[in-house]
Amino acid sequence: MTDINHHEIDMHWMRLALEEAAKGKGCVEPNPMVGCVVVRDGRLITKGYHRYFGGPHAEVEALQSIVDPNATIYVTLEPCSHFGKTPPCAPLVVSKKPNRVVVAMLDPFPVVAGRGIAVLREQGIEVTTGILESEARELNAPYLKLLKTGKPWTIAKWAMTLDGAIATATGDSKWISNELSRASVHQLRSDLDGVIVGIQTVLEDDPLLTARLPGNSKPHRIATRVVLDHRGRLPLDSKLVQSIPTAPLWVIVADHCPIAKREALERLGASVFAMPTDYQHDSLTFALEELGRVRATNVLIEGGGAVLGSAFDRNLVDQVECYIAPKIFGGDAKRPVMGTGLKRVQDASLWRIESTRLHGDDLHMTMRRREPI
Ligand SMILES: NC(=O)c1ccc[n+]([C@@H]2O[C@H](COP(=O)([O-])OP(=O)(O)OC[C@H]3O[C@@H](n4cnc5c(N)ncnc54)[C@H](OP(=O)(O)O)[C@@H]3O)[C@@H](O)[C@H]2O)c1
Ligand SMILES: [Zn+2]
Repeated sequence: MTDINHHEIDMHWMRLALEEAAKGKGCVEPNPMVGCVVVRDGRLITKGYHRYFGGPHAEVEALQSIVDPNATIYVTLEPCSHFGKTPPCAPLVVSKKPNRVVVAMLDPFPVVAGRGIAVLREQGIEVTTGILESEARELNAPYLKLLKTGKPWTIAKWAMTLDGAIATATGDSKWISNELSRASVHQLRSDLDGVIVGIQTVLEDDPLLTARLPGNSKPHRIATRVVLDHRGRLPLDSKLVQSIPTAPLWVIVADHCPIAKREALERLGASVFAMPTDYQHDSLTFALEELGRVRATNVLIEGGGAVLGSAFDRNLVDQVECYIAPKIFGGDAKRPVMGTGLKRVQDASLWRIESTRLHGDDLHMTMRRREPI
């Protein structure tokens, strides 16, 4: 068999392992998504993935039934070498006496970082690394970003008309996108750790910001709702405050928020964060750092325009979810991204389109930043 053939075969099985890994989305965070596929004589023997945080790792899922030596084991992330919530996987892989282990990417997690691969090689097992590495890094970009920067993967979302409006000049905004698009937003929220919103949107729209799914489906995660509200204007009878028993609420305030308001919010169960003055009113960075501290991996910024403007001005956005409805508002309609903005066209970053979907007549685009994490 030629080397090229070999490489293509490795890519084929690694693609399957990545598909397995992706099944853990929304359940494994803040752990990485990991998939494992075992192949012998060109045939799939078994596969598995890391299903939920604290649960068995992908290798354990896939290898529990395997006793046959001489298999090739494909795993999307370097097998771990440390005792965490579960015992290390590298010795388990060794015990199965595989011919070869193929790994998409090394695990930058400090206690692993190359040690897992070293364990395999020390035992004389042939290890190939870097197969579909960029796809593996893309899949786990939120995990990698949190590890590297301490801040969660940050997704900006908005729904707009064809002429780029998120509300009419009078502030009317219900609804721009159709029911199918809105259902897809609930699906999106159900995999997230946080949803951030500006106080003006709360005052105008009184949103709930929870994930409501059809039928009996339950969201994978309950996102913490975060309101950026320097002055503490959040009404105590707002839906956000009233729904605290179903989903946590954080309120980010500055020092000019009245103490009485802070206490009232806290009595109702909200967590109030007073932003230190050295953040100079950059409440978004503060909120993202606080979310990172509790290992939030994926966070959505739901608007409005002022908050999304701050986010893009500060280069805080990793992914965009944009829903475009075939409507025109014209006039002085509100735009999705305000802030300071750019002076020169050439300074605009180019976003990479990951997918485009139609929800009825609405176009839904998912875009990612171009620079890899
Ligand atoms: N179609 C959509 O997808 C969509 C989504 C969301 C909202 N909307 C619409 O957007 C409109 C509201 O947007 P908006 O731009 O007026 O207000 P906004 O972004 O919701 O809230 C702005 C306010 O948030 C506070 N804030 C705290 N930290 C901030 C930060 N880092 N950056 C910016 N603001 C910060 C400021 O008030 P303080 O100084 O008092 O804290 C600011 O005035 C509504 O009409 C709503 O319907 C549409
Ligand atoms: Zn492991």
